[in-house]
Amino acid sequence: MKLGTRVAIVTTFLMAAFLAAATGAVLVILRADQLQDLDRQARAMADTITATMEPLDRLDAGVALKARVASFSNRGGQFRLELVAMEGQKPNNSWAGLVEESTKLDQPVGRLFDLHGIPPFYAMAIPLHNEEPGSPTRQVIAFLGLVHDGDFIAQERLATGKRLLPYLLVFVILFGVGVYIMLRKRVSRPLGNLIDAIDGVSKGDLSRVVLAERDDEIGQLSGRFNAMMNYLREAREKEAKATAAHLATEEHLRQAEKLATLGQMAAEIAHEVGTPLNVIGGRARSLSRKAGDRAEVEKNVEIISTQVDRITKIIRQVLDFSRKGRPARGTVDLAKVVRETLEFVDEKMKQHRIEVQVGGDPDLAPIPGDADGIQQVCLNLLMNAIHAMPEGGMIRIGLDYVVRRKEGLALSPPLPYARLSIADTGPGVSPADRGRIFDAFFTTKEAGQGSGLGLAVSHGIVKDHDGFIQVDEATPTGAIFQVFLPTGSPDQGALDHDLKTPPPVM
Ligand SMILES: Nc1ncnc2c1ncn2[C@@H]1O[C@H](COP(=O)(O)OP(=O)(O)O)[C@@H](O)[C@H]1O
Ligand SMILES: [Mg+2]
Repeated sequence: MKLGTRVAIVTTFLMAAFLAAATGAVLVILRADQLQDLDRQARAMADTITATMEPLDRLDAGVALKARVASFSNRGGQFRLELVAMEGQKPNNSWAGLVEESTKLDQPVGRLFDLHGIPPFYAMAIPLHNEEPGSPTRQVIAFLGLVHDGDFIAQERLATGKRLLPYLLVFVILFGVGVYIMLRKRVSRPLGNLIDAIDGVSKGDLSRVVLAERDDEIGQLSGRFNAMMNYLREAREKEAKATAAHLATEEHLRQAEKLATLGQMAAEIAHEVGTPLNVIGGRARSLSRKAGDRAEVEKNVEIISTQVDRITKIIRQVLDFSRKGRPARGTVDLAKVVRETLEFVDEKMKQHRIEVQVGGDPDLAPIPGDADGIQQVCLNLLMNAIHAMPEGGMIRIGLDYVVRRKEGLALSPPLPYARLSIADTGPGVSPADRGRIFDAFFTTKEAGQGSGLGLAVSHGIVKDHDGFIQVDEATPTGAIFQVFLPTGSPDQGALDHDLKTPPPVM
């Protein structure tokens, strides 16, 4: 129920109760007035009776009183006169109390009787004396009783109540409606506007402004709401700017890491390109010498074109890698990414006598993401593994699906992830460094060897994919880096209980 309606109902009830109590009080006063009136009339009548009958002669008192009672019944109107008791007689029970009191006070005493089972009535006992006041032998020698029906008091009260009732009802209804209309206008509507505005905000609309029409609490509420909205708008703008700046920094870092990697590779690239160029030079010279020998020409041209292809491939790889591309959302074939990256570092691995094993599921379905970004992650991890084993060793690469919870989020629902793991047989990451290797510019390598950006950038890229990277110790030695990337499709594997177990190797 709305606040306005509720308050209107409650105040209307209170008002009705108050009016009922006030009416009750008025009716009580009315009754007291009527009773007083009745008493005054009775007393006047008693005075007349006493004045006309006293002093009463003892001898013919009985006759005189009876005659009086009889004559009274014709003129008494609403009152009845009774002979209550003669001297020495005991009055009947219903009069006894009044007679006793009247004897004590030596004057008429009247009261309203509202006894159970009989209609209410008013009765007054009137003492009659044998002598004038002041005489020493003055005595009460008889009691007359005045009786009046008392029902009319209650009836009049009822009638008055009935007459008042319609007015009261109309008043209460008008009052209730008035309160309701006022509350609606002054409370419910402004609050409703505020609630609308808050609903709008919860749907992301921060442009809401509520008119603060008044200077009471509701007006203040609107004012505070507007102030809060201003604050939220500013905060949101600040946040948007900060996010943009953050993205720009990340982009820079990525690019810086690429350049660093390229710098490291420049010498090897020169070597890589130098070798085929030497071959091409030699073959070209041999061609010019043996231009007449068709078989030699064909052989040399064949060799030259193979070497040119090799150079072209190297150049293309370098160009591909150094190209500053926006992260493109598409699908990523992880197995293909791994193959291409391995090609990229093939020479370097041969140089360091490093063997590679690729295991796991080669038919992994593509996952949503940015292939260039994932390739950069893969390259960073492979380069780190190669750097960790300058004297040779083994790199094991695994690809599979797991269902698990995000690291550190014990309450989040388990999700399906594609897992790329790269294990090496190097010295591993020392526990002291484990918490820091993902920090930008953290490196344990000599100056010129490492930029300290590889893992930071990789972490950023994987996070952009809603995934995460985990680093563990390999057995017997080495490091395992596991990259978890959401598959974007429901459950594709069993819940991974023992995450330390390296993925299967084929
Ligand atoms: N496979 C690994 N084995 C041992 N240590 C590693 C491995 N990968 C990374 N690290 C450690 O993490 C540090 C940070 O790596 P990274 O962010 O790629 O920067 P960089 O390779 O330029 O040093 C490295 O300097 C190294 O100490
Ligand atoms: Mg690195």
